[in-house]
Amino acid sequence: MINDLWYKNAIIYCLSVGAYMDANGDGIGDFTGLMRRLDYLHGLGITAVWLMPFQISPHRDDGYDVSDYYGVDPRYGTIGDFVEFTHAAKQRGIRVLIDLVINHTSDQHPWFKEARHDPDSKYRDWYVWSKKKPANANTGMVFPGVQKSTWTYDEQARAWYFHRFYDFQPDLNTSHPEVQAEILKIMGFWIQLGVSGFRMDAVPFIISTKGADVREPEEQYDMLRMFREFLQWRQGDCIALAEANVLPETDLEYFGDDGDRMHMMFNFQVNQNLFYALAAADTRPLVKALKATKPRPATAQWGMFLRNHDELDLGRLTEEQRQTVFAAFGPDPAMQLYDRGIRRRLAPMFDGDQRRLELAYSLLFTLPATPVIRYGDEIGMGDNLKLPERNCARTPMQWSNEPQGGFTKSDKPYIPVISGGPYGYEHVNAAIQRRHPESLLNWTERIIRMRKEVPEIGWGDFTVIPTRDPSVLVMRYDWRNNWVLFVHNLDAKPHEVNFSVGLDGDNAEHGKLLINLLAEDHSHAGEDGKHRLVIEAYGYRWYRVGGLDYLLRRTEVDEPLHPKMG
Ligand code: NOJ
Repeated sequence: MINDLWYKNAIIYCLSVGAYMDANGDGIGDFTGLMRRLDYLHGLGITAVWLMPFQISPHRDDGYDVSDYYGVDPRYGTIGDFVEFTHAAKQRGIRVLIDLVINHTSDQHPWFKEARHDPDSKYRDWYVWSKKKPANANTGMVFPGVQKSTWTYDEQARAWYFHRFYDFQPDLNTSHPEVQAEILKIMGFWIQLGVSGFRMDAVPFIISTKGADVREPEEQYDMLRMFREFLQWRQGDCIALAEANVLPETDLEYFGDDGDRMHMMFNFQVNQNLFYALAAADTRPLVKALKATKPRPATAQWGMFLRNHDELDLGRLTEEQRQTVFAAFGPDPAMQLYDRGIRRRLAPMFDGDQRRLELAYSLLFTLPATPVIRYGDEIGMGDNLKLPERNCARTPMQWSNEPQGGFTKSDKPYIPVISGGPYGYEHVNAAIQRRHPESLLNWTERIIRMRKEVPEIGWGDFTVIPTRDPSVLVMRYDWRNNWVLFVHNLDAKPHEVNFSVGLDGDNAEHGKLLINLLAEDHSHAGEDGKHRLVIEAYGYRWYRVGGLDYLLRRTEVDEPLHPKMG
């Protein structure tokens, strides 16, 4: 296969326009501000940005409640500013992905307003109604503890409407052909304005059958093919990145057996097990999750992440594992959310310990996926637990130690900048870290640069190498006669590990030499062909197998040719 599927080895950076940089001084970030920061992003080395919702919205769920899909929230700028931004990003080789929130609209969307007041309106059927209160009205809430039900009575409509999320987010009747046509139109619109793809919000719910009489919702997977076909027909390199926190058994339904559905999905299974592994220094469940999510079509890719803008959802771990993660990273109930997760940012979860942050990031960059970084994590930003629910981790980017962290000239930012304490902008900011070679920011820049020179991760096949030590993860990637090997010690204590690289035949000789890509301690195998390594607490190693002449040995085709990995 020709390796021009850009998303298989991208570095994606997720940000919210409103929290990034405020150029017009009204206290809210905007596209003009973001555009001025594109050189920072370019310097960091990222290759794509994922913008959280910026369309017109009453903002009751941070923009995930859209009231006009074809406009830019005036606080962020205009459609003109958006196009300037996508153009400027393109000039720097940065692609733009945007959120596509089409499972539901805001209750302020004109479609819903018309649907509720006029039973004969065509928009009535665009939503999901019931004359009587459905028996399951008090089940299936996504935000337990905050959201009370999934059906709400509407006085105007004299009927109940369905909402998988908050009551101000009525679900669209996504099985309706007109709704589907409108979704495609929305995609087509933004593609025309310069985007390279969509992070599709809440995919399992979009494709699910909905209605008062639906006892067991069923996923209509073919809908995903329809989205894919449209995207790719409109623009060949346009992708869909699905938010679907599903079990590994259904992964192939989402990717499509022939790679004909979603290009990418976030790997929630690995994410949760990774946090358990970090909390317990036990990589066994993580290895299981890696193996369970390994089968995928050759054109599909996982998106790997540590923290995102939501809570760290631990719902798929066992109760005991979940409690272990809570105890390590979010012991106080105020740090937890929705009975299943932790709402903190990454740095405070690791007590600001740079060794642990580097370890976690090194894992993120070397697991079999395209890494997705969250803005501010590259400088170790903290959270503000005084803000409600998930807002605690959505505070403005900390650029400098100037007033308001250099985010705005206003003295009243819409969301307060974190000030004072160990994570305040006075100490944690991009400007100061830029000047220190060993800062997290400069480390991140270096690791991204190296990650780009290791295409084996995105393109190749991986093997977990047994070490008999559950605290240490050793993984090898093979691609086109090249191999890389990564070692991670998740424990607070140093460990000694013995392993052989595991290459056979003519390649066995290469396996005896490991060149460290990040430091000078290379490894030569002993007489038994095994490497013996002492790895410090939270240590990590990135090795090239067989020496630095690998590019002279790389082949031009994949071997063996396989339609499907795993
Ligand atoms: C998932 C998004 O990540 C989350 O932030 C949002 O609240 C829900 N979908 C509803 O759109």
